[in-house]
Amino acid sequence: MSDLRIISVSLGSRSYDIEVGAENLEHIGSFLATFQPISTTVILTDENVLQQGYTHRVAESIAETGIDVHLLSVVAGEQSKAVETAATLWETLLETGIDRKSVLISVGGGVIGDLGGFVAATYARGIRFFQVPTTLLAQVDSSVGGKVGIDLPKAKNMVGAFLQPLGVLIDTKTLQTLPDDQYRSGLGEVVKYGVSLDAELFQLLETNIEKINLRDKTILKQIVADCCRIKAKIVAEDEFETTGQRVLLNYGHTFAHAFEIQSHFSLLHGLAVSIGSICAARLAVRMGFVDEIFLKRQISFHQALGLPTEIPNGIDWKQTIELMRHDKKSEFGKLRFVLPTGIGNCRLADDVDARLLEYGL
Ligand SMILES: NC(=O)c1ccc[n+]([C@@H]2O[C@H](COP(=O)([O-])OP(=O)(O)OC[C@H]3O[C@@H](n4cnc5c(N)ncnc54)[C@H](O)[C@@H]3O)[C@@H](O)[C@H]2O)c1
Ligand SMILES: [Zn+2]
Repeated sequence: MSDLRIISVSLGSRSYDIEVGAENLEHIGSFLATFQPISTTVILTDENVLQQGYTHRVAESIAETGIDVHLLSVVAGEQSKAVETAATLWETLLETGIDRKSVLISVGGGVIGDLGGFVAATYARGIRFFQVPTTLLAQVDSSVGGKVGIDLPKAKNMVGAFLQPLGVLIDTKTLQTLPDDQYRSGLGEVVKYGVSLDAELFQLLETNIEKINLRDKTILKQIVADCCRIKAKIVAEDEFETTGQRVLLNYGHTFAHAFEIQSHFSLLHGLAVSIGSICAARLAVRMGFVDEIFLKRQISFHQALGLPTEIPNGIDWKQTIELMRHDKKSEFGKLRFVLPTGIGNCRLADDVDARLLEYGL
């Protein structure tokens, strides 16, 4: 097996490890065995991930350690993050004899991680949970931090819980089969970490553009591990989003949410974040936080990674501002942005004058 990188998420009694490797899927059995006694495991996955064979490899590795394994698959896509799917899963867990000594393992993207975590947090008032994220977005973002949940028809991520997993196993080789737009979407979040939070990661990214575009599994291992380290540190300081630290993970997100809503979610989240961070950088120039050189460097960096930088057709600017005023993370209708102050640094600007944005960016 290739070298592994272990990131510890320090949360007192809820601390856990994230193992990042570049061909380590089969390590899941021995990783899980450290949490014995386990009465049985149930793997939640989606049909695409199942088809790629990852789920079976995970199941076989667990079975080899002598632990009982069940497999549940749902339809791929955001529509599975719904109360109807959760209800079907609760019933199935009961029929399968899942008890409080069982572990639910999500193998898939952020949808499967959020849904599986939500079901684990609620079934029998909570059973143990483990994550094997297989999209770049899930590896660098959604599998770290303990937020789990489902959508309401009119509001994404509206019902949920905080549930830290027993552990997370990441195999960057799984990223090779990801569709191009999904891969770029994950890169949108990776770039966010580099530009707004960590100059060293930015440097690593900027000097490895070609390898990243070729999905070199070794450079990806390094990058994914760095992103997990950055997020884990922030989560450890602000697990329940109360001290204001965790909000700094939201560079580009105020704009991104407004774009996603207007596109009826056909614009993938990380791509919206990519465009949103360029908007935030433009605003930061206007507010004197960074200069034009910073902005130009960021734009060419995004372009080299095949990330969008321009607001797509069909986005109305007035509506964008209105939606940003009512973003669930904004307070009392104020415009609130995480803005860059230099490479690897950012700050929260929570009372931005709307007139600065009136005529576009
Ligand atoms: N909990 C959090 O903190 C958090 C953070 C960010 C996003 N999210 C949530 O994550 C979700 C988005 O996650 P996502 O972008 O991973 O989407 P996703 O789970 O829908 O996966 C995207 C697509 O890729 C497929 N796929 C997954 N792994 C694959 C692989 N290795 N090869 C080929 N295809 C593969 C999936 O079947 C799906 O069709 C959203 O619901 C969002 O709300 C949660
Ligand atoms: Zn995001």
